[in-house]
Amino acid sequence: MNTIYEGPYYLYDMHLLDETVKEAQASALKHNCNLYYAIKANNENTILEVIRKKGMGVDCVTAEEINHALKNGWSNSEIVFAGSGKTIREIEYAFQSNIKCIHCESYEEWEVISQIRRRYPKSSTAVALRINPDLQVDTHEKISTGEKHHKFGMSFSTALQIISKDSSIIGFHVHVGSQVLDMEYFESLSLRMRELISHLPSTFQLRYLNLGGGLGIDYTQPERNSMPDFNGWMRAIRTHLPVEIIETISLEPGRSVVGQCGKLIGEVQYIKNLDFHPLAILDIGMTEILRPALYGARHKITVSNDQLISMKYTVSGPSCESSDTFGGDYDLPILSRGDLVTVHSCGAYASSMQLRYNLRRPIPSKYQYRKILTQLKKREKALVA
Ligand SMILES: Cc1ncc(COP(=O)(O)O)c(C=O)c1O
Repeated sequence: MNTIYEGPYYLYDMHLLDETVKEAQASALKHNCNLYYAIKANNENTILEVIRKKGMGVDCVTAEEINHALKNGWSNSEIVFAGSGKTIREIEYAFQSNIKCIHCESYEEWEVISQIRRRYPKSSTAVALRINPDLQVDTHEKISTGEKHHKFGMSFSTALQIISKDSSIIGFHVHVGSQVLDMEYFESLSLRMRELISHLPSTFQLRYLNLGGGLGIDYTQPERNSMPDFNGWMRAIRTHLPVEIIETISLEPGRSVVGQCGKLIGEVQYIKNLDFHPLAILDIGMTEILRPALYGARHKITVSNDQLISMKYTVSGPSCESSDTFGGDYDLPILSRGDLVTVHSCGAYASSMQLRYNLRRPIPSKYQYRKILTQLKKREKALVA
C-alpha cells in the first residue's frame, strides 16, 4: 500500500484477519468449541464485522462493550459478560438486554446479581460462576489472572456454596491469563477443571463451561508465525475434558484473533546520540500502543530505508513519561529523521487501549483488502467465463 505519510496510523491486513478467523472457527468446529471473541482486544467496527460474519460470539467486560456489540450486529444470545467490578447499572443492562450469560466473579457479586435478577423474571440471561483455579502460567505477571491472589473469580468452595443455594446457575467460567504459548498450561487447566467438575453434586447439571482466552501470538517473528496455534490450543483444552464430559466448551480468544493482523505505522522524529547508545524518538508511543510501557512488552520494529549498515537503537515515544519507550537494543538500519517505522503485532490491545494523555489525538486506521479483492476479482472472472 503506497500512502503518503500524513501522521501515524494503524494498518490492518484484512486478508490475514479473515484467514485467522476462519482457522479459529475451523478448529472450534473440530473440537466442539464455541468461540466468543474478547472485544476488549480490538473494538473497531471494520474488524468486528469480519469476526461477527464468521460466526463468533462476543465476550464483553462493560455495558458499553455490550452496547457496542449489539450495535455491531451481534444478537443478544451471542454475548457473554465478564468483569471484576460490574455495577448495578451494568448488571441491569445485561438482564434487560437478554444476553446469553453473566460470569459472576464472587459471592458478594452473586448476592447483588440475585437481587437484581428478581426484577427481571422474564430475562433469558443466565448466570455462570467464574472460578479462580489457582493455576500459575508462564506469562507476564500483569496479564496472569488465575492465581489465588489475583482479583478474578472465586474459589471452587465458594462456587459450591452458591450452587447449593441457587439452582439456576448454568456452569462455570475461568481465564488463567493472556499471551500463553506453552500448551501444557492449557492441559493443566483442563485437568484442574475436570477435577473440580468431578466434585460437583450429582444434582447439578453442567450446561456451560467457558475456559476463557489466553492463546498467545509470536511477537518476535510475526511474519513467520502469523497464524496462532488454535488447533493445538483446543486440543490441549480437550485433553482432559472430552465431549463425554462436556459436549461444548466455550472459549474467549482475543489477542490470537486480531493480534497479528495489525501494525502501527509512525515516523522517526529525532535521533539523539546519548552517551552509550543512539536514541530514536518516534511520533508514536505509549498512547498508541500501551503494552511496552504497561508491562515491558516487546514488539518487533522494522524500518525500510536504503541504509545497508545497521546499529542498535533505543526506540522511544513522544509522551512526557520515561516509561514511554519500546525498549533498547533494536537492530535497525541507520535511521534518519523522516524514516517510516512499522511496529508489528499491534492488532490486539493497541487501538482499544489508546490514551488521550498529553491530549494526543486518536489516530486513524487503514485497512488493506488487496488480496481479498484480487480473489473476488478472480472469482468474478471465473463466473463470467
Ligand atoms: C475473561 C477474559 N476472557 C478473555 C480474555 C482474552 O484474552 P486473550 O486476548 O489473551 O485471548 C481476557 C483477557 O484479559 C479475559 O480477561
